Amino acid sequence: MNKLNSKKILLIICGGIAAYKSLEIIRIFKKKGALVKTIMTKSAKKFVTPLSVTSLSQEKVYSELFDYNNEAEMDHISLSRWADIILIAPATANTISKLSYGLSDDLASTVVLASNKPIFIAPAMNVRMWEHPANKENLYKLKNFGYQIIGPDIGDMACGEYGEGKMTEPDNIVNYLNHYFKKIINNKKFKALVTAGPTHEYIDPVRFISNKSSGKQGYEIAKSLKKNGIETTLISGPTILDPIPGVNLIKVKSAKEMFNETLKNLPADIAIFSAAVADWKVKNVEKNKIKKKDKLNLNLEKNIDILKHISNHNSLRPKIVIGFAAETNNLANNSKKKLLEKNCDWLISNDVSDPKIGFNSDYNEVTIFYKNKNQEKISKIKKSLLADKIVERVISQLN
Ligand code: CTP
Repeated sequence: MNKLNSKKILLIICGGIAAYKSLEIIRIFKKKGALVKTIMTKSAKKFVTPLSVTSLSQEKVYSELFDYNNEAEMDHISLSRWADIILIAPATANTISKLSYGLSDDLASTVVLASNKPIFIAPAMNVRMWEHPANKENLYKLKNFGYQIIGPDIGDMACGEYGEGKMTEPDNIVNYLNHYFKKIINNKKFKALVTAGPTHEYIDPVRFISNKSSGKQGYEIAKSLKKNGIETTLISGPTILDPIPGVNLIKVKSAKEMFNETLKNLPADIAIFSAAVADWKVKNVEKNKIKKKDKLNLNLEKNIDILKHISNHNSLRPKIVIGFAAETNNLANNSKKKLLEKNCDWLISNDVSDPKIGFNSDYNEVTIFYKNKNQEKISKIKKSLLADKIVERVISQLN
């Protein structure tokens, strides 16, 4: 089914032999009713002419970063805001490298850096360039920025060599994007709630009880849900992380505030409780700073278990409830017990005794315990990529 009708595509053409295929990409997009604006890099113009591009797209071609006429009409910010998505095809090794470093020395790289839209990259280069560790590292960075890579294919190359590096065929690139829009349109009906980060339970105005949670995994999950078109609310304890564009961020300090905001933001189809909620709070928080003394007795009481409360609530319980568990020992037994006790559909457990994964690290290694007694180990992986895997499974379960 065609989902490209009226979609706004900003196509960036870089300078490679595959640039001639971008003309075919424009032609198919136009046939499907999409609106296509195009940016050509300086070297792209050595392979195809702006006149061919403009004739097919029926739009003027943008090229210069500092163009008096274009800036007045549509500058680099407006161009990226106009688009529903940005497609870079062909993406050369040079452009991939520039984007991975956040360089912005021409219109194409500046638009991408300034963009808040989904970015798709269709690489095209010689097989040795494709396989070079520098290129691999750059692509790895781009994937972590959330950019989606289409291809490349394996085959005979224009240079006479054979291997991986050929740009994916125009039909397949357009199909990939059609599928993307289909997914986004379908997922728009879902609402997700994510809790993340630690909570602060105050003792007096300057001291609190907390834990080592950075909130990174929860933020990555919220980012991935949003990327997949799901309306997402992120209820976050204190962290140093940046808000995620398009995600409804609610900042809280204590478990009580997190609980109240969770209630306010239900119903939802999915709730993912990744927050490391402090188990106890101080019964009587001192109004003034407690003076130094030899002994301090804290009168602690149990915080409400947000996850348990929601998962056992008949009318509030989302279709999918996912808990997290940070364990230092007996991971499997503790997790299976927690899954049942907290009435979760899945419990995602990690062993936080290894400092290279878990708290504060960019990596995680988890086992997902499912309600149906299956379990799945996901070996050490970037938190952003783990988030994508979790969200992929959530969506397939919702559907
Ligand atoms: N959780 C919650 N509210 C709490 C405590 C925990 O919502 N007051 C949620 C966490 O967000 C997580 C799951 O429950 O999804 C498990 O948290 P964890 O700290 O591992 O478990 P606890 O119940 O606190 O048990 P323990 O600390 O004894 O392992």
